[in-house]
Amino acid sequence: MKNSFKTLDEIKKYCSEAGVDIGFSGNTEIYRKSHVINGFTVNNSLAVLPMEGADALEDGSPGELTRRRYLSFARGGAGIIWFEAVAVVPEGRASMYQLHLNKGNVDAFRRLTDEVREPALKQNGHAPMLVIQLTHSGRYSKPDGVPRPVIAAHNPVLDEKYGIAPDYPVVTDEALEALEDRFAETARLAQQAGFDAMDVKASHGYLLGELLGAHTREGRYGGGYEGRTRFIKNAAEKVRQAVDARVTLASRLSLYDAMEPQYGFGVGPDGQPDLAEPVRLLRELYNIGVRLVAVTAGNPYLIPHVNRPYDNGPYVPPEPPVKGVERLLTLAARAKAEVPEMAFVGAGYSWLKSFAVQAGAYALENGHADFIGFGRQAFANPGFANDILETGKIAPGKTCITCTKCVELMRSMLPAGCVVRDKTYARLYQQHIKNNA
Ligand SMILES: Cc1cc2nc3c(=O)[nH]c(=O)nc-3n(C[C@H](O)[C@H](O)[C@H](O)COP(=O)(O)O)c2cc1C
Ligand code: SF4
Repeated sequence: MKNSFKTLDEIKKYCSEAGVDIGFSGNTEIYRKSHVINGFTVNNSLAVLPMEGADALEDGSPGELTRRRYLSFARGGAGIIWFEAVAVVPEGRASMYQLHLNKGNVDAFRRLTDEVREPALKQNGHAPMLVIQLTHSGRYSKPDGVPRPVIAAHNPVLDEKYGIAPDYPVVTDEALEALEDRFAETARLAQQAGFDAMDVKASHGYLLGELLGAHTREGRYGGGYEGRTRFIKNAAEKVRQAVDARVTLASRLSLYDAMEPQYGFGVGPDGQPDLAEPVRLLRELYNIGVRLVAVTAGNPYLIPHVNRPYDNGPYVPPEPPVKGVERLLTLAARAKAEVPEMAFVGAGYSWLKSFAVQAGAYALENGHADFIGFGRQAFANPGFANDILETGKIAPGKTCITCTKCVELMRSMLPAGCVVRDKTYARLYQQHIKNNA
């Protein structure tokens, strides 16, 4: 059922009839709660989730639309702005328009972080925590616009979908070890560029996410739990050593891959979430120094309904979108209950439209997450945080309608933004449709 609910009572009734456990609370004051993470005061409990804009310049530096997006997020008032995926090596870019931080463009990133802090301080009286997401796109690498997959392990379903032959070589252990160092070197640059926190991203089927589920891989980086988690732990440790102690370590971590157990992380024999390994990893990451985790799930290329529940998307999902929302919220709640010392950012709220405000308030009130993260909603209304903080709501006319057009733009290697609420992207989308007619 699509979210066309007009009142909170309607959506509550629907959830209860569908047996969906999502709570709602009117205590929206709770979003004002500040948090101290590794000595950094985050002014409120709202976060902009990372979202690739595919609008970087060819050398990987932020483009004009990148700047526009982050300046609007900054004005919007969220306590955390989690920057999108930024490749640590050129061959790990998802397209030639993905950000890539390197020695040659560190100043351009520095200008962006300086610029982003300015309106936030001026208008909101606080600087957000700026997190950079360090990534390698793995099997989705397209550094020059054509697929150049770097795979951690074979996966028959994904291999077939993307035309990868059974004898296509997997990335070697030596290359992975060298890549760990690239994460650390890029983190050092990211500190120079003015970021407050470093995310070692392991999710969504990209290289580090795929390694976590590489049960069938031989060698040091696959097989059992120790092998599969070796890369993220080594990379986190190397990043920690590369940056000052005041820089926060973070991770966008997939707690459940929603694929066959022998190819995924956090998947039980019945295909349902099994958090034994993710919880063990979260505790180990905490011991390494990771203090902030943005929870996520699924592979957006294969099963996008798990990653970002939608009303209109590439296929009709096999479950009502509200089930997907419940799964994401529950994953965060379970992780927080098991590893309370870690700060968690929850995801998956945008489908709830304006009722996300009450669902997030409930999650915060009940300790199911420390921050409520918004992805598509931030594209649709970059001012969502101030709306919530000042009025306790997001007006229905300003919400994301989960139409998936922003993703369509991104997958076509065009700048991504809200086609419905932002004229710049509406125009780009019209042009894209015309070009493909
Ligand atoms: C266009 C688009 C780009 C995205 N890019 C990233 C990304 O770079 N890194 C990441 O971790 N997640 C990415 N995501 C996933 C979001 O961070 C978020 O987890 C997801 O959209 C669910 O949250 P929502 O329901 O609030 O949109 C992207 C999502 C969209 C729609
Ligand atoms: S295009 Fe806008 S309304 Fe549609 S899913 Fe993206 S952010 Fe939401």
